Amino acid sequence: MRILLTGKNGQIGWELNRSLSTLGTIFATGRDQIDLSKPETLGSVIQEIKPDIIINAAAYTAVDKAESEPELAMTVNGIAPGMIAQEAKKIGAGMIHYSTDYVYDGKAKSPYKEEEPTCPLSVYGKSKLAGDQGVIQAGIPHIILRTGWVYSLRGSNFLITMQKLAQTKNQIKVVDDQTGSPTWSRVIAEGTARILEQCRSAKNSAIFSHSGIFNMSCSGETNWFGFATKILELSGLIKNTELISIPTIEYPTPAVRPRNSLLSNIKLKQTFHHEMPHWQDALQECLNSPPRPQKVHHALR
Ligand SMILES: NC(=O)c1ccc[n+]([C@@H]2O[C@H](COP(=O)([O-])OP(=O)(O)OC[C@H]3O[C@@H](n4cnc5c(N)ncnc54)[C@H](OP(=O)(O)O)[C@@H]3O)[C@@H](O)[C@H]2O)c1
Repeated sequence: MRILLTGKNGQIGWELNRSLSTLGTIFATGRDQIDLSKPETLGSVIQEIKPDIIINAAAYTAVDKAESEPELAMTVNGIAPGMIAQEAKKIGAGMIHYSTDYVYDGKAKSPYKEEEPTCPLSVYGKSKLAGDQGVIQAGIPHIILRTGWVYSLRGSNFLITMQKLAQTKNQIKVVDDQTGSPTWSRVIAEGTARILEQCRSAKNSAIFSHSGIFNMSCSGETNWFGFATKILELSGLIKNTELISIPTIEYPTPAVRPRNSLLSNIKLKQTFHHEMPHWQDALQECLNSPPRPQKVHHALR
């Protein structure tokens, strides 16, 4: 299986590049090889590599900055994924793409199921929803994995921010009225590998018979304050600083976040027999994990 991966240096892309390595030949690309802000350039790389599967882990993820760069966010997140899917169609390839809890308004009282109506509150959420729609409309075999609150030991994310703040600040204020389930990027990569493995063993028939959106987030629930508390406890930093819980209204941000970001994983479990770990177990494992080695990439040209 020839796998074309975009966003190889991102939280999820970096883990995918390692988790998928036994499943086929990976052509891992960064922004210098595939730039989603120039969708018109995607075709030549895709046609040259002729992958069986394209995994798009690249995205414009600066949620607050997107409010002041709506066109760039829409090009990268909203337009490019559909164009990738159109290129995939020309060569009979399938596509795996990542979506977000930010496509919802967060007003639901229970975890979101895939078929529930979307209503993004932010530019980022709107751009990601447009990308999902572009992939679906191309009519190719596709899996859209919807996740949220992603963290890892690299890049910029809530885990890294809390660890840094705990070493420099006496007090950290964290909001406690947004609910979600923190999800380690590695468990998303491993879940993706599990899905692809089933496709491979069924000669791609699984990906053809199960096209659609699937939620993929850790199980259990917490809020940002609860997540921060656990991070500092497990990192041995809880005595370094005082954590103070505050409501969202006291921490205004350019982009409005959903109050409820919980995603139901039932469809993922029923379809692919894949169970996501509890967020606390994944966090513990992440903090105990040794760094994964750098990878030598296949030359694209
Ligand atoms: N982070 C979250 O909490 C979260 C939640 C829900 C869903 N998701 C989704 O999960 C997927 C992966 O997210 P992530 O957390 O791994 O994001 P990330 O760590 O920010 O990585 C995004 C990657 O996209 C690349 N990228 C940005 N603009 C690009 C462009 N114009 N052309 C090509 N590559 C570009 C970045 O490249 P550089 O390394 O060069 O900057 C980076 O490698 C995305 O679809 C995201 O929307 C993320």
